[in-house]
Amino acid sequence: MLELLQAQGLRKSYGDRAAVVDVSLTVRAGELLGLLGPNGAGKSTTVGVISGLTVPDAGTITVGGITLAQDEFGYKRRIGLVPQELALFDDLSALANIELFGALYDLPRPQLKRRSREVLEMVGLAERAHDKPATFSGGMKRRLNIACALVHDPDVLLLDEPTAGVDPQSRNAIFDNLEALKRAGKALVYTTHYMEEAERLADRIVIIDHGRVVASGTLAELVRVLPAAQRLHIDIDGTLDPAVLQQLPGVKQVRLEAGRLTVGLDDLALVAPAVLQVLAAHGASVRHLDSGRANLEDVFLALTGRSLRD
Ligand SMILES: Nc1ncnc2c1ncn2[C@@H]1O[C@H](COP(=O)(O)OP(=O)(O)OP(=O)(O)O)[C@@H](O)[C@H]1O
Ligand SMILES: [Mg+2]
Repeated sequence: MLELLQAQGLRKSYGDRAAVVDVSLTVRAGELLGLLGPNGAGKSTTVGVISGLTVPDAGTITVGGITLAQDEFGYKRRIGLVPQELALFDDLSALANIELFGALYDLPRPQLKRRSREVLEMVGLAERAHDKPATFSGGMKRRLNIACALVHDPDVLLLDEPTAGVDPQSRNAIFDNLEALKRAGKALVYTTHYMEEAERLADRIVIIDHGRVVASGTLAELVRVLPAAQRLHIDIDGTLDPAVLQQLPGVKQVRLEAGRLTVGLDDLALVAPAVLQVLAAHGASVRHLDSGRANLEDVFLALTGRSLRD
């Protein structure tokens, strides 16, 4: 498959604060790469560097085989950026906002007009073409922001937390747009700290922390690094020393955080009853219990010892 985006050894510091220390990633045509990490991990800086807006201290990036130094306009023309902070002009209509972004790329007038209508339609805002963003909901503003990034029909789309503050309906509309863009052969980088979104959308995932890649692969590959395939979550009242569970046969990991026990195990049917018996024997009453397959949150926790949303 064709690799549309290749970034190698990116590095960026602000003064003596290192935002990105060493990040490499590739994205192929028709692929969505989830860029996952907690607050301050370096996601936006990585995306900013790839977009050409932030100058890196080191690293090489090619988009469709060309670097920014070789052909700045050609490079930027191939990239669309949906920034984390909304970038819209409140005094312009939705359509005028899109046309303004398109004009930055020197689109010929007839093409600009046609394309602006097209992307507005795509994000489901055609009926609001002449309204100003100030009258839009948070989700509608996000969708308009996406339309602005798409007007010049880029090959690579960088989306920096595009669902922040978005209602479920708009979120699903955005996800549908992303699926369509994938089918159209675009390469997408999708930044989020919501692991559910990465699990749902991403073909491959790169997890970064403190400006470095700590893991990358498909969801299945990432989860395979974990010692246990299943998770049991139990909310308990009372105190408990997690060590009493650690000794049970079949229990691989135990964590107790704010009254919530997380037990890693491979065979739920075999081990869960014993876990509950031990809880009862130690006077811890169970308020809520659920179980599931290990997920990205578990991967991140296992790799860094911290939660993604810390
Ligand atoms: N313009 C800037 N000037 C100074 N420091 C910056 C700047 N931009 C980012 N940083 C710092 O770089 C680090 C990484 O920030 P970045 O915005 O890339 O993280 P992030 O992963 O996008 O976080 P979030 O999930 O909160 O959006 C942080 O420590 C941040 O304070
Ligand atoms: Mg960010």
